[in-house]
Amino acid sequence: MNGESKTNTNNTHKSKASHSKHLPVLVCTLLAAAALTVGAVSRARSGSDTQKAITDGSSSSSLCASQDSSGAKEQEPVTTSATTAAENTQTEIKTRPSHLEAAKPAAVTAAHKTEVKNGITYVDGILIANKTYSLPQSYAPGLDAQAQAAFCNMQQAAAADGIELWICSGYRSYSYQKKLYDNYVIADGKEEADRYSARPGHSEHQTGLAIDVNEPSDEFNDTPAARWLAAHCNEYGFIIRYKPGKESSTGYMAESWHIRYLGDPELCKKIEASGLSLEEYLGITSKYRN
Ligand code: DAL
Ligand code: ZN
Repeated sequence: MNGESKTNTNNTHKSKASHSKHLPVLVCTLLAAAALTVGAVSRARSGSDTQKAITDGSSSSSLCASQDSSGAKEQEPVTTSATTAAENTQTEIKTRPSHLEAAKPAAVTAAHKTEVKNGITYVDGILIANKTYSLPQSYAPGLDAQAQAAFCNMQQAAAADGIELWICSGYRSYSYQKKLYDNYVIADGKEEADRYSARPGHSEHQTGLAIDVNEPSDEFNDTPAARWLAAHCNEYGFIIRYKPGKESSTGYMAESWHIRYLGDPELCKKIEASGLSLEEYLGITSKYRN
C-alpha cells in the first residue's frame, strides 16, 4: 500500500476527486426514495457511499426533526464502554508506561489504557475501529442515539448561521461495508481502495459513531459547510477523523466530511488543539496485518 507523503497530499485529493462522481446535493436527502443498487461497479465513490442509507437505515437530515418518534428509537441499544463494562466477562487491560513514550508528543506520552471487551477495542474508553482494530461481524448497533442527537443540535446551530448540514452516511453494517469495499476494489484495485474505503469489520461507520456529512467527496472540501463543520464540530462532541497529512497514522486519505462522535467536547477540542490524529493522540496504529 502506498503511504502518504507530504509531496503526494495534493495528488491524493486529485485522485479522490477523479473517482468521485459529483452527485447533486439532493442525492443524499432523497436517498430514501432512490432505487439505487450497489451491484454495478462504479468509480463513483460518493454514489456508492450514499446507497448505504437505504440498505442500512442510515440517517438523512429528516431524522433530526423526527428523532423523538422514529430515528433514535429505531436504533438498537448503543454499546459503550460504560454499558459493556458490567457485562464484560473477557476483558483484557493493557497499559503502556509513560516512561517508554518519551520521544513522542506530549499528548501521547500519557499512559493509555487499552481494553478489549467482547471483541471490541477501547483505548482510554474510546471505541476504536481502524485498520489495526476490527469489529466483530455481528456488531450492529445502528446509529448511536447520542451521536444523532448531537448531530441534530449541530445541524440547528449551522442552520442559524445559514449553513445546511445533513447526514449522508451514518451507520453501515458489516455486510454493506463489504459490498462497498468489494466494489471499490474492482473499480480501483485493492491498494487504492484501501486508501479510502475500510475493509468490512474495520469501518468506523459500523460503530454507529461516524457520520459522513453532506457529500462524501472532495467536492465538499473548502465549501462553507466544510469550513463550518471543521470550526464547530468539536463543540458537539465530534472530530474530523481523517485530516490531510495524516494518512500514515489514520491509514486513510483525508475526508473532510467524515466526523467521529467522541461525546466529550472538551476532549475533542484537546485533540484538535494537539494537531494529532486520533491514532497519534492515543498512541495506536492503523495498519492491516495483510
Ligand atoms: N471511508 C472510510 C474510511 C470508511 O470506509 O469507513
Ligand atoms: Zn465516512
